[in-house]
Amino acid sequence: MSITVTPTHPDFVAEISGVDLAQPLQPADRDGIEEAINRYAVVVFRDQKLNDEQQIAFARHFGPIHSSAQRARHKGIKHRLASAEIADISNLDGDGKVMDRTARRRLDWLANRLWHTDASFRAVPGALSLLYAHIVPDEGGDTEFADLRAAYDALGEAKKREIDGLVAEHSIWHSRAQLDVTQYSPEELASLPPVPQRVVRIHPGSHRKTLYLASHASHIIGMPVPDGRLLLLDLVEHATQSRFVHVHRWRQGDLVIWDNRCTMHRARPFDTAKVRDLRRVTTRDVASTLEQAA
Ligand code: OGA
Ligand code: MN
Repeated sequence: MSITVTPTHPDFVAEISGVDLAQPLQPADRDGIEEAINRYAVVVFRDQKLNDEQQIAFARHFGPIHSSAQRARHKGIKHRLASAEIADISNLDGDGKVMDRTARRRLDWLANRLWHTDASFRAVPGALSLLYAHIVPDEGGDTEFADLRAAYDALGEAKKREIDGLVAEHSIWHSRAQLDVTQYSPEELASLPPVPQRVVRIHPGSHRKTLYLASHASHIIGMPVPDGRLLLLDLVEHATQSRFVHVHRWRQGDLVIWDNRCTMHRARPFDTAKVRDLRRVTTRDVASTLEQAA
């Protein structure tokens, strides 16, 4: 059986059926999935049954794994998941209990509610993220996605000229600081220094121009900080108008892949006293955006 790709939004997002991701992946299905990711940027698989190893093995078909930065910024705590190749996106602590409201990892995790793209704060950023739902709450906890290629296309020519060639500084500490989450040790802070990334890039899978934005982007290099920050805030506001946004309502067994190179995403609120167990594997981009075609 081969895959069926069904678009769910006018510009991006598709659902893919006809494949069991726990089984060895057929080359034709792999190629079909990659083609769908390049075209739609966000693809959804329903009713999958995956353990962590199967999720990691599936991700490897699409590139080398970006080991999670969670261990670098949460030193000396017990991690629930065995592998550094999988990021714990749950609200559970190292013992599998719902995290205390003031737990440091919980406060850090709340920053997923800000519009962002994964690992833009690493010199070689994230490419694809694969997020799998083990347990979802009855209400809330959706994930929203914004299409940054369509958002780029919709900019006026003058704005396109203004931002062409700009480079933003990205830092995980900037996104956390927006929520006043600052309790990191000097060693943790030093392990993830700020990095430069292009504001406009060419999405390699489609050769389309795209914005590259995130809550991690703090200012524009070579511009006074307030000017650059306001420019970035305006671009995020533009790119997250409802016409560019798709809401994913999670069901247990969903695996969603998104392309961080041409989308942003954010988690939506839910009652964090309830369990939400999602786990993510992210592939590595080939190089810093500064070393890629623009
Ligand atoms: C992520 C993320 C959003 C969510 O896994 O990278 O931002 O809804 N998740 O949990
Ligand atoms: Mn994320």
